[in-house]
Amino acid sequence: MTTAKHPRVFSGIQPTGGLHLGNLLGAVKGWVSQLDHTDTIICIVDLHALTVARDPTETRLNRLGLAAALIAAGVDPDRCILFMQSAVPEHAQLGWIMQCNASFGELSRMTQFKEKRERVDFISSGLFLYPALQAADILLYDTDEVPVGDDQRQHVELCRDLAIRFNNRYGRTFVVPRHVIAPVGARVMDLANPTNKMSKSLDGPGTIWLSDPVASIEKKFKRAVTDSLDSVTYDREGQPGVANLLDILSACTGTPPADLARSYDQYGALKLDCAAAVIELVEPIRQRSLSLLQDPAELDRILNTGANRAKEIASKVLARAQTHIGILERS
Ligand code: TYM
Repeated sequence: MTTAKHPRVFSGIQPTGGLHLGNLLGAVKGWVSQLDHTDTIICIVDLHALTVARDPTETRLNRLGLAAALIAAGVDPDRCILFMQSAVPEHAQLGWIMQCNASFGELSRMTQFKEKRERVDFISSGLFLYPALQAADILLYDTDEVPVGDDQRQHVELCRDLAIRFNNRYGRTFVVPRHVIAPVGARVMDLANPTNKMSKSLDGPGTIWLSDPVASIEKKFKRAVTDSLDSVTYDREGQPGVANLLDILSACTGTPPADLARSYDQYGALKLDCAAAVIELVEPIRQRSLSLLQDPAELDRILNTGANRAKEIASKVLARAQTHIGILERS
């Protein structure tokens, strides 16, 4: 089991079109702030991205683009392990074992599957089995903590259930992880449709990409949907658009959203300040990301080093699981 002094932290992100503000505030910012107090492993989950068919050229660009964006956002490969999932085959190997350990009913209840199946023409079996692979990702590293946005809570809970079931059936094998959800920013909503979460698949005028130039961010905030109540209060139910702006500003500045609400009486001023705070946060990331992409060989080297370090941990945990279920002889 884990012998590290610091908690082992594992999280993952799909390379499907860069980073958006929700990814940054709900997950990446938290990973970065904890790097010095944790033993962190960040995985670009390119196998998960295959659940929906994509153009291979786009896939290649997205993988490297995301690596650059993460490093630019502070996921420092000298202070954590950063790697590509497909470079460590143990993920697919333990993924199969976890699929055999998850029930059809459990996977059918996953909210993300139910939502995503409505949006695709071809519902791949991978889309259905995805949470079992996600459980394998986490369990392969004797993970203590999984920092994620609110939308991943159910997947991490399933991972816990699968780990407990496996340990009960075959003897203590996996560390049972817990999710860590950021107090603010865990559910950034779409600016144009604030009752939906900001997401890569809803890419439109309500999604802020970290690759967006300054003028485009300003325009998206100016057009952010609010309401006709003409008063600034922090009420997620009654004023979802305004509450989302306050949440975003709060995640950028550290001031609680209800306190921020008291400093505004006009939507226009709130939108302007929100845009300015987001630009201050994301513009340096965009610039660094562009410069990192000038040297793809260096990005490959970083990812290869990360994969070798990840494999060293993952191969031992996989062998432990294989031995316990009887498909690998004890040495
Ligand atoms: P993904 O790639 O959709 O998102 C990456 C991270 O960003 C968070 N996030 C958000 N947070 C706040 N507001 C939003 N609008 C928002 N949108 C996304 C997500 O919660 C996530 O933390 N299944 C995962 C990837 C994965 C994974 C793992 C995560 C695969 N294996 C193991 C943790 C551990 C996913 O699709 O995340």
